[in-house]
Amino acid sequence: MSIIRDKSLAGPGEEKIAWVEKHMPVLGTMREKYRVNKPFQGLRVSICLHLEAKTAYLCRVLAEGGAQVAISGSNPLSTQDDVAAALAEGGVGVFAWHNSSDAEYEDFLYKNLTENRPHLIIDDGGDLTALLHQEDMEPISRDVLGGAEETTTGLIRLRSLARQNKLLFPMMAVNDAHCKYLFDNRLGTGQSVWDGIIRTTNLLVAGKNVVVVGYGWCGKGVANRARGLGANVIVAEVDPIHALEALMDGFRVMPLEEAAPLGDFFITVTSCINAIGSRHIAVMKDRAIMCNAGHFDTEIDKQALTVQAEKIRAGKKNITEYRLKDGRSLFLLAEGRLVNLASGDGHPAEIMDLSFALQALSLEYLQEQAGSLPRRVLKVPYELDKKVAELKLASGGINIDSLDERQARYLSGLHREA
Ligand code: ADE
Repeated sequence: MSIIRDKSLAGPGEEKIAWVEKHMPVLGTMREKYRVNKPFQGLRVSICLHLEAKTAYLCRVLAEGGAQVAISGSNPLSTQDDVAAALAEGGVGVFAWHNSSDAEYEDFLYKNLTENRPHLIIDDGGDLTALLHQEDMEPISRDVLGGAEETTTGLIRLRSLARQNKLLFPMMAVNDAHCKYLFDNRLGTGQSVWDGIIRTTNLLVAGKNVVVVGYGWCGKGVANRARGLGANVIVAEVDPIHALEALMDGFRVMPLEEAAPLGDFFITVTSCINAIGSRHIAVMKDRAIMCNAGHFDTEIDKQALTVQAEKIRAGKKNITEYRLKDGRSLFLLAEGRLVNLASGDGHPAEIMDLSFALQALSLEYLQEQAGSLPRRVLKVPYELDKKVAELKLASGGINIDSLDERQARYLSGLHREA
């Protein structure tokens, strides 16, 4: 059983999935293998991810491997109803619709778990995992062999649980694998955030002042793509090492309070609350545009915006105007939710190919090692990371060199040669 908005939307949803499938060759290769060896036969997988076309393809690949799959969205605005309809028609359990209320969102997560009773989970942001850790979910969580977490925010939450010895099953830190953060966080976010901003505002970026708040892997991507679009980029950071890196990457670095009166566009990528707060809002210039690319809609203090506003107006799609008491207007995109997914289609297919291949390989690993792994946040084994890179290179017909025996011995440190 599924709960979706409108099953008649399945046609266009199917076209979206067919399009991304052509650009996700690593998952395609894995799907071929799964068709034969069925690694997930007899297992139920519950997924909480941004429900768009690339995610739908991952669900189908896991189902090809024998899994019974159920999915709910990981953000109320990122679910695409046409994709949800196509997926539900194909037999995946779908509990999601676009623009769900908080109560509906929670209920979808709950149904995902209670109807599917998973052995394995995939999470993005930690909401599904947190629900499984509620006391009343014990009859369900006791059957969970483990799971995989997609994103930085989710790992922060998981590591906090693990520190208190409360994590109930092993969780693979997919976000920290090389084939994830180097490509998804940096290049994926870099491109998809600007895609979201540009398709929403239809404004020029060249010559504008862009303020990037946070210079982790996602911030690096957003800042570099802004530079490529011709913007003058300012980075605001709290971590001195990241700040130094931004400086040496050639960006201006200053406290956000100094950058606030200069910026035309502000993008938060911090994983933290209130990165943009009332003291910044108080000095921003008229018509400044703000958006967020972090997991939760708490990076821009909407309450502070509301307090300073005389009027709040929903304007062009995904743009809210805050007309302030002093006459300035500030604009917030996608209600402060992740602009690339709430106001776009998420990362490019070629990038999610890598992230989702890591997800599928992590689930294979968890079921192979079932019972022998500690209840901790686990690193994705290097061999899996390497395999994803090899498959991606092979799909593009790219060959690389390999070490000869003597070189391999030298690098292993066993022999010191002059
Ligand atoms: N599409 C599906 N999941 C995504 C994610 N976490 N980030 C960007 N695009 C996505």
